[in-house]
Amino acid sequence: MIDTIILAIHILVASFWIGGMLFMVLALSPYVRKLPEDLSVKSYQEVGKRYSLWGTVIGLPILFLTGLYNMNVMGVSYIELSNFSNSYAATLHHKIHLFLLTVILAVIHDFYIGPRSHINRKFRISARIIGVINLILGILIIFLAAKLRYGG
Ligand code: HEM
Repeated sequence: MIDTIILAIHILVASFWIGGMLFMVLALSPYVRKLPEDLSVKSYQEVGKRYSLWGTVIGLPILFLTGLYNMNVMGVSYIELSNFSNSYAATLHHKIHLFLLTVILAVIHDFYIGPRSHINRKFRISARIIGVINLILGILIIFLAAKLRYGG
C-alpha cells in the first residue's frame, strides 16, 4: 500500500511539474505577452516566483526522493544503474541524468535569470529559452517513465 501511495505522489508531483510548464506556455504566456512590457515582465516574475516555490524548491526534491523509493521498490540498486545490459536500469540511468539537467536549468532559470528579466531583453529571452528546454526535458522524462513501465 505504501509503495502505491509513494508512486501516486511521484506521479502527482510530475503532473504538477510538467502541467505547470505547459500551462505557462499554452495558457498564460499568450495573454501575458500582449500586456504592456513592464506589466508583462512583472506578471512572469510574480507567477514564476510562486511556481518556483512549489515546483523547483518543493516539487523537484520530492520527485527525487519518491523516485529513489520507486527505484528501490523495483529492485534496482545504485551499482546496477551503470549496468547497461539491464535495460530497465539503463533507462533509469538516462532518466536520472535528464532529471539532474532539469534541476540545474531550473535553479539557473529561477534564481539567476528570472529575477533579472526586468533588466534587459537578453535575460527575458534566456529565461524563455531555458523554460522551453526544461519543458522538452520534462516530456522526454515522461517518455522514459513510460518506457520503464514496459520494462525499460
Ligand atoms: C522531472 C522528474 C520526473 C518525472 C516527470 C517523473 C515521472 C514519472 C512518472 C509519470 C512515472 C509513472 C510511470 C508508471 O506508471 O510506471 C514515474 C515512475 C517512476 N519514476 Fe519518475 N519521474 C521523475 C523523476 C524521477 C527520478 C529522479 C527517479 C529516480 C531517482 C525516478 C524513478 C522512477 C521509477 C523507478 C518509476 C517506476 C517506473 C516503473 O513503473 O517501473 N523518477 N516517474
